This record gives sequence, structure tokens and C-alpha cells, in this order.
Amino acid sequence: MILNTLLSQHARVLSGMRPTGRLHLGHYHGVLKNWVELQHQYDCFFFVADWHALTTHYEDPSIIPESIREMVIDWLAAGINHGEAKLFIQSQVPEHAELHLLLSMITPLGWLERVPSYKDQQERLKERDLATYGFLGYPLLQAADILIYKAGLVPVGEDQVAHVELTREVARRFNHIYGREANFETLADQARKKMGKKSAKLYSRYHKAYTEQGDQEALDAARALLENQQNITVNDKERLFGYLEGSGRLILPEPQPLLTKASKMPGLDGQKMSKSYGNIIALRDEPEVVEKALRTMPTDTNRVRRSDPGDPARCPVWQFHEIYSDDGVREWASEGCKTASIGCLECKQPVIDAVLKELKPIQERARSFEAQPELVRNIIEEGNEEARDVAQETMEEVRHAMSLRHF
Ligand code: TRP
Ligand code: SF4
Repeated sequence: MILNTLLSQHARVLSGMRPTGRLHLGHYHGVLKNWVELQHQYDCFFFVADWHALTTHYEDPSIIPESIREMVIDWLAAGINHGEAKLFIQSQVPEHAELHLLLSMITPLGWLERVPSYKDQQERLKERDLATYGFLGYPLLQAADILIYKAGLVPVGEDQVAHVELTREVARRFNHIYGREANFETLADQARKKMGKKSAKLYSRYHKAYTEQGDQEALDAARALLENQQNITVNDKERLFGYLEGSGRLILPEPQPLLTKASKMPGLDGQKMSKSYGNIIALRDEPEVVEKALRTMPTDTNRVRRSDPGDPARCPVWQFHEIYSDDGVREWASEGCKTASIGCLECKQPVIDAVLKELKPIQERARSFEAQPELVRNIIEEGNEEARDVAQETMEEVRHAMSLRHF
């Protein structure tokens, strides 16, 4: 039931990434592969969080435009398809800022101060002065990013779950304060009638069974009935959902985090792959560079000579086998390592082949997009417009709910 509601009612997915320039295999396995899957199943919005980059890098913003371009090319190269997903840039949809401002009016300071990343990041990025208003407010900006698209699902890593949780709290508070229209009951009843005689009658019956007897099945049935209405507006539908549950109209639905499993992608040294560790394979590294990096990556330090047996558990190459090799190859590598019947270079070869094979189509697409900057610009322009359309619609409702339609 929950899944059904999610699928139909919250079929929109939104996620963002800070512009970090060219991406690497860690991003691919941790995020992009997942996005590529999601774009086939949901109405996906993926955006470049350039304002978020400013919350920490406000002193050196000049690299941001280049980082955006490179990152978007890598998204496209990884298989994000602009025909399926909308790709856009946060700052090109200024409505995010307006919603951020309006939400800031109702967000208690303590909620932001309590977000775990607030203190953590200040500690971690000691060299920057992060005692700013923008930095404190950045999880709320993220809430605005999500709520403005009424996204139901937000694919994020573990570190971002608290932000989605904050988003839910803010949405709940917003709906609580502004969700009840003055003439809500009348509007709900009018909406009910717009469904046509038969459905209107059914809805009333289910509503009664649920509100008077707590009949859960009636609630489910009523929801299903609403889902299937083609000829009433989204707003009317939400009124009817709200009326069912005795709340007001849900203006900003609460999103769910869609937890992406932590990427198992190790770096060349066995630590997590990350630019700051200098252990990455970038998606656009030349095949020769990739091959050399893998050939020279460290192995089990106990295998000094070819005749010394090794232990895969102590070897970063083994972690690559776990991602890239099938059972047969893994068996061969593990046996060969423990019995010293294969050398490390031999052991690395299937990994090298597999990584190069994975990167090949990505790099081909990247080259094609690099050669057509105009196309990339158009893709983003189009995404910006589509995002703006949705964002503007939400803002109309939000302004209305907050009595900002004065004339
Ligand atoms: N804060 C996220 C990060 O640092 C990026 C982000 C901004 C985001 N807005 C978002 C992610 C909205 C998901 C939804 O990675
Ligand atoms: Fe690592 Fe393979 Fe060498 Fe064993 S044989 S140490 S698993 S590279």
C-alpha cells in the first residue's frame, strides 16, 4: 500500500549534486548508475546545486561555471538522458530562493542548528569561515529545492538523510499553518462533485467508513479512487486527499529519502574513492592513464615477490574484483593469490579490461557532448525551463496560501 501510494502519488524524483567538476568512478557507482535506473521509472529532476556550492565556496566562485559544464557532460556521458530526466541548474530557477525565504519565516532556528552536518562540516572545513547565515540555512535551501517540485522521492546518501527529514518537518509545519483554506469544506465538496455522480457517491461512502469507523480499507479504496480520477485538477485532488484524512489541503507533500547504498567503489589505494585522497579514476581519464593507474596500484604488501602467497582481504585490487568480476574470475584470482600461482599484474588484467569496457561507452558519449557545447547548453536551457514551469506553479500556491496575493 505504501509503495503504491509512493509510486502513483509521488512519482516525482528529485536529486541534486554540487558542482565538483569532472566526476569519477565513485560518483558513477554511488550515484549516477542509480539515477540512470530511476529515470526510466519516475519523473526525474536532477539539478546542479550551484547555490549550495556558494555556501562553502563563496570566496572562490570563479571555478563554478566550468565545474557545472564538466559535471553535466559527465551526467550525460554516464547515461542520464535528457529526453527522460530534466537536467537543470538551481540558480536558473530563482523560485528556489523565494521558497527558501518564505520557509525561513516558519523554521525554528533550533531545527537548523541541530542538523548534524552543521557542526560536522564547520569542524571539517576549519580553513573556511562557515559561521555564515547561508551555511546555517543550507539544509533549508535543500528543503526548498525538494518541496518546490513536490518530489516524493529523494535519492540521497546516508549523510543527506537528516536533510530530507528536516524537509519533512518543514513541509508538515507549512501544511499545518497554511494548509487549511478558509472555505476548505465547501471546496472539498465541490471537488467531490466534479468527479461525477458515481465516484462522488463512492467517495462519500468511503469517507464515512473511514472517519466514523476507522475502516482502513475504505481509506485505501478512497485513495485508489482519487488516484484514478482523470478529470479533476491536481489541487482538487489534493483537497480530497486532505479531506479524507481530516487534515487540510496538502500544499507541500512530505518527501521520502530513497537511500542509495553507500558506494562500494574503492579508490586506487583501497580507501573510499575521493578527489581529496588523490585515488580516483575519472570517467574521462584516457584508457592509457586508467590502465597505468591500475597496473601501478598497490597490492597486498606481503606479496613482495611473485612466489610469496598473498591474501585478497589485504588487497585493494580484490575490492575491484568484487565490483567488476564474476564468480569464476574471483575464484581464479583468490586461489591464484593465496597459492602464488598468479602474479599481481595477471590478477589485475581482468579488472583493467572490465573498467576500460565500462568506461568506453561513457567516454564516447562524453566526446560527442564535448564536441557539441551548443547542444549541452540547449539541454540545460530546456531543463531550466521545464523546472521553472513546475516551480512557478508551486509558488503560485505557496504565495496564495501565505496571503501574498494582494491585488
Ligand atoms: N546537499 C546535497 C549535497 O551536498 C546536494 C543537494 C542540494 C540536494 N539540494 C538537494 C540533494 C536536494 C538532494 C535533494 O550532496
Ligand atoms: Fe592482490 Fe591479486 Fe596480487 Fe593477490 S594476486 S595481492 S589479490 S593483486
